[in-house]
Amino acid sequence: MEGATPIGFEKVVREVSRLSAKSTFQDDDVTTTSLVLGKKARSFKEPAPLSSHGNATIISVVNQKGGVGKTTTTINLGAALAELGRRVLLVDFDPQHSLSVGLGVSTRNLEGSIYNLMLDESTKIEDFLLKTNVPGMDMIPSHEDLAAAEGALVSVIAREKVLKRVLDSVSDYYDVILIDCQPSLGLLTINALTASKYVIVPLECEYFALRGVALLVDIIGKVQKNTNPDLEMLGILPTLYDRKTVHSREVLERILEAFPEKVFDTIISRTVRFPETTVAGEPITTFASSSSGASAYRRLAREIISMGVARDSHTSNQSIASAGGI
Ligand SMILES: Nc1ncnc2c1ncn2[C@@H]1O[C@H](COP(=O)(O)OP(=O)(O)OP(=O)(O)O)[C@@H](O)[C@H]1O
Ligand SMILES: [Mg+2]
Repeated sequence: MEGATPIGFEKVVREVSRLSAKSTFQDDDVTTTSLVLGKKARSFKEPAPLSSHGNATIISVVNQKGGVGKTTTTINLGAALAELGRRVLLVDFDPQHSLSVGLGVSTRNLEGSIYNLMLDESTKIEDFLLKTNVPGMDMIPSHEDLAAAEGALVSVIAREKVLKRVLDSVSDYYDVILIDCQPSLGLLTINALTASKYVIVPLECEYFALRGVALLVDIIGKVQKNTNPDLEMLGILPTLYDRKTVHSREVLERILEAFPEKVFDTIISRTVRFPETTVAGEPITTFASSSSGASAYRRLAREIISMGVARDSHTSNQSIASAGGI
């Protein structure tokens, strides 16, 4: 990540803080689907460090329903993957820019965002990368002006592939790129899905959680057919799970019935620590490193790596800086 922060943006990036976070195995307080269903507990070992970097796996975090934990998942899964030695890039792809805010970036001071990268081909991605407070994790911020992108993209040739073009230019540097989508299934989300290998769908464990999922699955199928045959559903992530209520458990059971093979074993429980992290402007893995929320996202990171994602890479560890970008 050395040199990835353009000098002009240094001022808006939070100082490195609370870097004592280390990957731990405090899984006892993490809720899992196996435990809820009374099945044999599973565990996911800490993966071996990567021998090289690059050939990034791009994952979109999508659900057109608002407030289900997309941004929280993008930030904290990214931070947990970075703790495991993966080079991570987060893309804030929501005009509400919650991911940028959640990482302490004041969008008022920004000179540009993902919007500029998509609509002005003369811009260079290196000029828009920001370091986060997590070593190994960078981000591209968003801005309210991204809301205008859907209209502006309509006249662009291959308008569904614009984000893919932007991200292809850095995929040799990162191991994982996570895209935090806005709560809609419009052209921006189609761009994210077209650029991605995988989709993660956070689903809140509340009544009506499954409402709208059929439409999302339909859109994924259309993207597979038209612009990205390689796209796959990596998994459905149960979020905002409340251990104390029967209805959280009932909703989880319905999600498992609907998608028996596609639900992550790791469940993200509801805890006030997550809203607190947004105010603090940093991931839970650094803000409350030993909390159950941090353990849950660390377990999710190991679960995803155990599925073969970002396990190892096949390309050089050429850095963006040495490639002449910075
Ligand atoms: N596990 C959790 N426990 C408690 N609060 C949570 C949890 N996950 C997320 N939240 C809180 O819920 C709110 C919505 O979460 P988040 O912003 O991640 O959802 P989102 O799906 O990205 O929303 P949007 O669709 O508006 O982009 C935030 O205030 C966040 O702090
Ligand atoms: Mg969000």
